[in-house]
Amino acid sequence: GAAELGPYRHYMQKEIFEQPRAVGDTISGIESISPSLFGEQAAAVFKQIDRVLILACGTSYYAGLTAKYWIESIAKIPVSVEIASEYRYRDSVPHPDTLVITISQSGETADTLAALKHARSLGMEQTLTICNVGTSAMVRECKLAFLTRAGVEIGVASTKAFTTQLTALFLLALTLAKVKGHMTPAQEAEHLKALRHLPAALSAVLAIEPQIIAWAERFATKENALFLGRGMHYPIALEGALKLKEISYIHAEAYPAGELKHGPLALVTESMPVVTIAPNDALLEKLKSNMQEVRARGGQLYVFADADSHISSSEGVHVIRMPEFYGVLSPILHTVPLQLLAYHTSCARGTDVDKPRNLAKSVTVE
Ligand code: G6P
Repeated sequence: GAAELGPYRHYMQKEIFEQPRAVGDTISGIESISPSLFGEQAAAVFKQIDRVLILACGTSYYAGLTAKYWIESIAKIPVSVEIASEYRYRDSVPHPDTLVITISQSGETADTLAALKHARSLGMEQTLTICNVGTSAMVRECKLAFLTRAGVEIGVASTKAFTTQLTALFLLALTLAKVKGHMTPAQEAEHLKALRHLPAALSAVLAIEPQIIAWAERFATKENALFLGRGMHYPIALEGALKLKEISYIHAEAYPAGELKHGPLALVTESMPVVTIAPNDALLEKLKSNMQEVRARGGQLYVFADADSHISSSEGVHVIRMPEFYGVLSPILHTVPLQLLAYHTSCARGTDVDKPRNLAKSVTVE
């Protein structure tokens, strides 16, 4: 009811603004990195496994795609990520030393549960779920579990569940790195410090909402949008495009920026907004030349640029500056402005933000 909404217009907006709390709760009480965060048997399981298979749907699948970057770079373990509804209908090559990870807000998604059972039927018994509901089928079915503490999520479009999943998956990357001997105590301390600063960093990002509202007015009149990201921000671009589709019904697609020239550039005209995630990372210079490719075709760039990335507003280039560059945790911070952009664009279009047409919060049938 209205009382629960407090100052917010919709549950989605409330849930976006709960993210500093949700992420803070998810990491609260963690003094050091230890397999026991994932369950009693985790130490033995993590020692045994030498590869990871992630199974999920929707937004949870994009959390999995992001985790692949973290786990491969920090823990040096190969990761494959599969859409749960596809995995069980193809012939794959199972290996018993696989850590099978399901990611699910609800823990009841039929496709993800079926994919888990399929993996088990192929002899993969080492299973972990990252889940937001402790009493769910997924938690009962998996050997190991990490519970995100997003709290109840009501908006159909997932927001706080996603950022808490990312937080949990980052913790997992650190844990696997530690078990496999790829993390020094100094690195562990540094990562923990960054994690503890996340709630404050998220709050700082939320403060840019008024600037995003101004952009949303313009987006509301569009029928198409492109989202660009590179590296570990490519899955964040996918999630940004999904949010916009789900609630505003604007057709949106995401591409890794280097792939533009292999097709989507043909779509770019003055009426195509191109949302660009521009973290101040090793790929920034490459991204800037991708942005030039868009400008040269008259495309309108809407850039979320980190502090110090030296991207400034000019003809056709609209910039909102992110408060800080957040290193390896940057995907979590860059998610928030994309959620707000989708949210305010939907409000401007007058769609049913919390209950978009044709979609359900939890899909418990195939
Ligand atoms: C539905 C929801 C999405 C969600 C997906 C997976 O499609 O609308 O927001 O990402 O299911 O749900 P899960 O509960 O497994 O994360």
